[in-house]
Amino acid sequence: MTQPRTRNRTSAASGHRKEASSVQVDASPGLRELLERSEIALGESEDRFRLMADAAPVMIWMSGPDKLCTYFNRNWLNFTGRPLESEIGEGWTEGVHPDDLRQCLDRYVAAFDARQEFQLEYRLRRADGAFRWVLDTGVCRLGIDGTFEGYIGSCVDITDRKRAEMEAHDLRRELAHVSRVAALGELTASLAHEINQPLTAILSNSQAAQRLLAKAPPDLDEVREILRDIAEDDKRAVEVIRRLRALLKRENLERCRLQPNEVVEKVVQLVTHDAALRQVSLSVHLDPTLPPVIGDRVQLQQVLLNLMLNGLDAVRDVAPQDRKLKVRARKKGASTVEVAVTDSGTGIPNDAFPRIFEPFYTTKPDGLGMGLSISRSIIEAHGGRISAGNNPEGGATFCFTLPVEATS
Ligand SMILES: Nc1ncnc2c1ncn2[C@@H]1O[C@H](COP(=O)(O)OP(=O)(O)OP(=O)(O)O)[C@@H](O)[C@H]1O
Ligand SMILES: [Mg+2]
Repeated sequence: MTQPRTRNRTSAASGHRKEASSVQVDASPGLRELLERSEIALGESEDRFRLMADAAPVMIWMSGPDKLCTYFNRNWLNFTGRPLESEIGEGWTEGVHPDDLRQCLDRYVAAFDARQEFQLEYRLRRADGAFRWVLDTGVCRLGIDGTFEGYIGSCVDITDRKRAEMEAHDLRRELAHVSRVAALGELTASLAHEINQPLTAILSNSQAAQRLLAKAPPDLDEVREILRDIAEDDKRAVEVIRRLRALLKRENLERCRLQPNEVVEKVVQLVTHDAALRQVSLSVHLDPTLPPVIGDRVQLQQVLLNLMLNGLDAVRDVAPQDRKLKVRARKKGASTVEVAVTDSGTGIPNDAFPRIFEPFYTTKPDGLGMGLSISRSIIEAHGGRISAGNNPEGGATFCFTLPVEATS
């Protein structure tokens, strides 16, 4: 009779040495050998997995079918600075930022129950105490026979990307504000009209009241009614002014010394993702010797953003391989910098040329027709000029110039 064998092995999935599981084998020497070999093979493949997982440049974790985590690779442990014993089970959740924990667990559990792949973004505490954003991707682990064994996941540090996204978000908010301010110029006429109405009514009502008071005896009831109307009209005018103030509120736009290349680079950074999504190849040509200009950084970014977004729209109907958008900043004469945006789109129809800079002129179903009119107000306020033309090889080029900083 063959002696029963007891074998200890480390499970990669558990990441820690399991209690000795005794394998009772009562089999022929051939079968026993086979079992023995397959166990060795399993042990080896687990060792190989561990080696690989520890050498991987990402953080790796595994969980069992009960949702509890059973394994973290060396990279994870180095990142959190905690020993494996602290991380396994639900221990890892102690390192998740309290503001992210709820959604993190909810999504993990939901994906788990549905046996679906998932991606989570959350902040995880690093060994030095700093929270870093990580992107965690989890996929199901299935056994050879297809049984669900839990999840394996990997995390990468995306803090830099997150920071850039937040900056871009702040910048977009600022740009949106600027466009409100610039749109104000276009709205002045209608606001003047709105204020003029109650003021005219107040004037004619007060003249009527004077006439009524001059009568003997004066019709005081009528006068009281007129005074009520005057008060109402006054409130309307005040409300119009309040709305105007709300539009203008927030920062004062500042003029400062600017490197045109930096303005271009910032906007290109904002548009790059959009261009890639729309399969537009984007090229940028800067001149490192460009002199500085004086201007409002955000307003000028707004102009370039408008032109580049128009360029992206313009190439929409050409074949993906022909969708090109080029931005060039260069010197033009001794005292001017020129920024040009060239697209390979459909160009501007001749009859549209006189109208494209007019407010509310648009050929797009979802366009406002404000982009170019706002851009022109901004450039002219900077002492520059903006112009448009069609390229001989197709598409359009929009250029604006800015006077360089005067050297005294
Ligand atoms: N690069 C371009 N190529 C061809 N036509 C253009 C280009 N840029 C602008 N246009 C034309 O000029 C019109 C006005 O542009 P503008 O940027 O002022 O408004 P919009 O893009 O339609 O809307 P939005 O207010 O959202 O910018 C566009 O609708 C389009 O017809
Ligand atoms: Mg536009």
